[in-house]
Amino acid sequence: MALTTSAPAKAILFGEHAVVYHQPALAIPVSSLRVTAVVEPSSQFQVIASDIQREIGSETLETQLDDALTRMIRLTLDHFDAAPPAVKIELQSQIPIASGLGSGAAVSAALGRAVALALQVDLADSELNGLVYEVEQTYHTYPSGIDNTVIVYEQPVYFIRDTTLQTFAVDRPLKLLIADTGIAAPTAAVVEEVRSIFNRSPIETQVIFEAIGDVVQLAKQALERADIIELGRLASLNHELLQKLTVSSPELDHLVNVAVQAGAAGAKMSGGGRGGNLIVFAEESQLSPIREALLQAGAVRVIETTIQPTANYR
Ligand code: MEV
Repeated sequence: MALTTSAPAKAILFGEHAVVYHQPALAIPVSSLRVTAVVEPSSQFQVIASDIQREIGSETLETQLDDALTRMIRLTLDHFDAAPPAVKIELQSQIPIASGLGSGAAVSAALGRAVALALQVDLADSELNGLVYEVEQTYHTYPSGIDNTVIVYEQPVYFIRDTTLQTFAVDRPLKLLIADTGIAAPTAAVVEEVRSIFNRSPIETQVIFEAIGDVVQLAKQALERADIIELGRLASLNHELLQKLTVSSPELDHLVNVAVQAGAAGAKMSGGGRGGNLIVFAEESQLSPIREALLQAGAVRVIETTIQPTANYR
């Protein structure tokens, strides 16, 4: 019989990039976009990720150690001191790659859960989070850990690196839009560039990071009282600070402006930047016209997601 595991996408609401430098950030799971892993008995160990034309067998696990999928499988097997089980794991992702929605961490999380399921062992979220973070560290320079945390726990998070998990609670379900520029931009390269900007001008860059940290504190309070107008104002402010860090792009700036002109309370890029997605805060009655305006202006996809009071997540 086939069994399924999965992990969601994520969206950073406020605080990306500065979070790498110990400022707080806010992120939510996007449960409607998922990576699923279907586990079935088989004569041999096999992982198939047809979206990215990858197939992994037991021998690949010994030879391709520099690949994120093989690394996640190896780490999970080693965690349980186990040999590859006789199963076929089929991975499928609805999350666009390199678009700031955490596709890499979601693939790792779903895969780790699938391997544990095949081994018939319990893998606690805290253990999985550690394993996914190890994979993230191999491919990103100095990742903050926010992506793996929000994806593995599937809860809204108020995140400060190297501290214990904190969540936040919205007063009522809050809808927002996530719009895709269609431009793929790998996060690791952008984080690396911010690192060189920081190394060149540490004082000025630290001032921007701290200003972002202040926006995050205010945004947490605005989220808790579901104050869309204030969230919009803070989103636009956060976007301007990210522009100063050079991580936005003409396409992101254009779509942010389109959203605001179409009636949004505010909008900002989300995730690594230079492409990928933006998020839009608006009164519910405005979401539909803003969505249309974004699609007309070139967004390749606009999804609506809801920040749920915490108890409504998985
Ligand atoms: C990527 O989703 C978020 C960044 O802040 C990087 C990180 O936190 O590791 C850009």
